[in-house]
Amino acid sequence: MQNFDYYNPTHIVFGQDRLADLDTLIPANAKVLVLYGGGSVKKYGTLATVVSQLGSREVVEFGGIEPNPQFETLLKAVEVVRAEKIDFLLAVGGGSVMDGTKFIALAAEYDGEVNSLLFNGTAPAPVKSALALGCVATLPATGSEMNNVGVITYNEQKYPFASPLVFPKFSFLDANLTLTLPKEQIANGVADAFIHVIEQYLTQPVNAKIQDRFAEGILKTLIEDGPVTYADNDNIDARKNFMWSATSALNSLIGVGVPQDWSTHMIGHELTAMFGIAHGRTLAIILPSLLRERKSQKYAKLVQFAERVWDINDGSDDEKIDLAIDKTEAFFNSLDIVTHLSHYNIDEQAIDNVIVNMKKMGLTKLSETGDLTLDIVRKILLATK
Ligand code: NZQ
Ligand code: ZN
Repeated sequence: MQNFDYYNPTHIVFGQDRLADLDTLIPANAKVLVLYGGGSVKKYGTLATVVSQLGSREVVEFGGIEPNPQFETLLKAVEVVRAEKIDFLLAVGGGSVMDGTKFIALAAEYDGEVNSLLFNGTAPAPVKSALALGCVATLPATGSEMNNVGVITYNEQKYPFASPLVFPKFSFLDANLTLTLPKEQIANGVADAFIHVIEQYLTQPVNAKIQDRFAEGILKTLIEDGPVTYADNDNIDARKNFMWSATSALNSLIGVGVPQDWSTHMIGHELTAMFGIAHGRTLAIILPSLLRERKSQKYAKLVQFAERVWDINDGSDDEKIDLAIDKTEAFFNSLDIVTHLSHYNIDEQAIDNVIVNMKKMGLTKLSETGDLTLDIVRKILLATK
């Protein structure tokens, strides 16, 4: 296992009917900006409940943060923060609202050009302070509710950023608030969480037993309870397990001390930026093809994945790996996620444009060892058919 530091200060408030606890977690004299997306939280009453729990605090609202949040929209929120002298940000929504709020928290206290906060990848953004933020998560998927990362769309490209200052002070994971999710968002969330685990797990063995076994436990839970949540809206026990899986998949715990390979995400972000395909779906298209292409580099961990996650114990190691990848793809398909680019009318010419854009973004040496070049990315995308 490699050396690591682990720091995660986010207070999780988990379960059902938990919003009454908001009052205890936000300073009594705070002036709060409540941020939300395209209106689902208004439509289903979550926003009204949240605001009523804030009691006599001064509250300002900012809606309209879109999926794959746009830089320009977030700048408008920064203006509101400054004009209204806001001192606490409360994100109510999915990953896009939570990520957008993290960016606003940094940008509101930054004196330089705010777009420069986007050009550091996942190295800490060059900031000295940020506004405090909390989250009411309405979509289990990204893990944004318990990590220090965000992804913003700027000039039609997706840019990740990170800072220890944007860990949410708290996040509510109230399963009842997710009951209104359309089925395809549940599927997106299951795929996203599953692939977050894979990006931290399917690399090379470093004898990190806790991380491996936690990762395998999350994958098995997603395989078990993802489809139940997808098929049966009323199964709250399955939904809670799915929700905690999604958070646990990207709160750093399984990623410490192990190599990580975020190739599927880096390629997927390009497909979202260029073709508007939802984040989780892009990942499900790429991953099976990437694993087939990278079989030899990830061999030992793929065998472990086959045996421990998919319980495949018969056949040669090669056969186990092939079956595990097929089962993974079939799992996504069972959630009605199509894993072929042709479904989106993306042909060879469009794939070449993806490669050109990735080159412009400097994404030329992906994988845990930096050996995944754009020629290989092209091959992976072509193989998705
Ligand atoms: O905008 P509203 O009207 O709220 O509707 C949203 C949106 O249309 C809807 N929704 C959310 N909660 C709902 C609901 N509809 C009904 N009932 C509810 N309870 O769902 C739609 C999608 O929301 P969005 O927030 O965009 O989805 P998700 O949570 O999947 O977030 C995706 C974003 O997160 C980034 C992605 O790149 C993408 O921009 N990611 C963030 C990460 C992180 N911070 O660590 C890691 C991820 O890998 C990912 O890149
Ligand atoms: Zn993701």
